[in-house]
Amino acid sequence: MSSEPSSDFTLDPRFAFDFVALDPDDDLDDGSRWSTWLAVEPLCRGPRPRPDWVVTSQAAIDTDLGILKTGKEADAFLLERAVPGSDELGESVVMVAKRYRGEDHRSFHRSATYTEGRRTRNTRDMRAMTNKTAYGRSVAAGQWARAEWEALVRCHELGLPVPYPVQVDGTEILMEWIRVDGETAPRLAQTRPAAELLSSYYQQLRDFLLTLTEHGLVHGDLSPYNVLAAGERLVVIDLPQMVDLVANPTGADFLLRDCTNVCRWFAARGLDVDEQALFGELMAVAF
Ligand SMILES: Nc1ncnc2c1ncn2[C@@H]1O[C@H](COP(=O)(O)OP(=O)(O)OP(=O)(O)O)[C@@H](O)[C@H]1O
Ligand SMILES: [Mg+2]
Repeated sequence: MSSEPSSDFTLDPRFAFDFVALDPDDDLDDGSRWSTWLAVEPLCRGPRPRPDWVVTSQAAIDTDLGILKTGKEADAFLLERAVPGSDELGESVVMVAKRYRGEDHRSFHRSATYTEGRRTRNTRDMRAMTNKTAYGRSVAAGQWARAEWEALVRCHELGLPVPYPVQVDGTEILMEWIRVDGETAPRLAQTRPAAELLSSYYQQLRDFLLTLTEHGLVHGDLSPYNVLAAGERLVVIDLPQMVDLVANPTGADFLLRDCTNVCRWFAARGLDVDEQALFGELMAVAF
């Protein structure tokens, strides 16, 4: 018997389907895109163990839900990553996408002090950044994103309360969306906690600072504006400028400033705290 299909072979129409080749680099028509999860290198994906809400399916689609807040050097968006039609399977999550802008470098004057010790090996990149060409600004934006990514991963691994870092891709970081009752958590500065909660909030920030300094790290821009109040729990955000306390010549100055920003806010609300005392306590655990 011949194994050749007989010439009268007809394909059952139930097995036929329209096939359209899709390029994963293409944006989809409605402005969404294919999930970039598998397109980034493994080290650009969040640390394990991963929370179960992280969507890793190749079939997922990323859709921008709108801007959360424009900032000095970056904008925060809400982004949904979901496998179409999978709502009940849980393969759908809303995250924060923090995107560093390449074109606006008002704050990159900070670069010199914050990035001391951070090297750009490529001399063409270095020249472009110094001359502030469009290309140079995009290199700088990518470096800020990378720096914030590394800081988030480090803090997460130290068990500190920061948003879980999902992935970094060029100038964009995807991270856990910090919410209360389904809404974006307010910044600490917008809250008026009663005495007991106020004191608990302070203890949480003090613990955060103690662990960070024990590991020789300084947030560098800690203030009630970069802390989110998720109910009874505080979550620290905005870490691209995290520096090394010892290797960075201004590390101790940044730490004192962080202590001052935190203590002044709590003191103004009636808590008996003092930045010099906190700074002293932190410096004592640092070495
Ligand atoms: N993971 C998050 N969950 C919820 N809200 C967030 C998150 N990340 C950022 N936001 C919101 O977006 C704002 C800006 O984020 P962030 O402070 O990281 O960026 P920034 O560019 O430094 O902004 P700014 O210049 O206002 O400090 C935050 O104040 C907060 O309201
Ligand atoms: Mg901020």
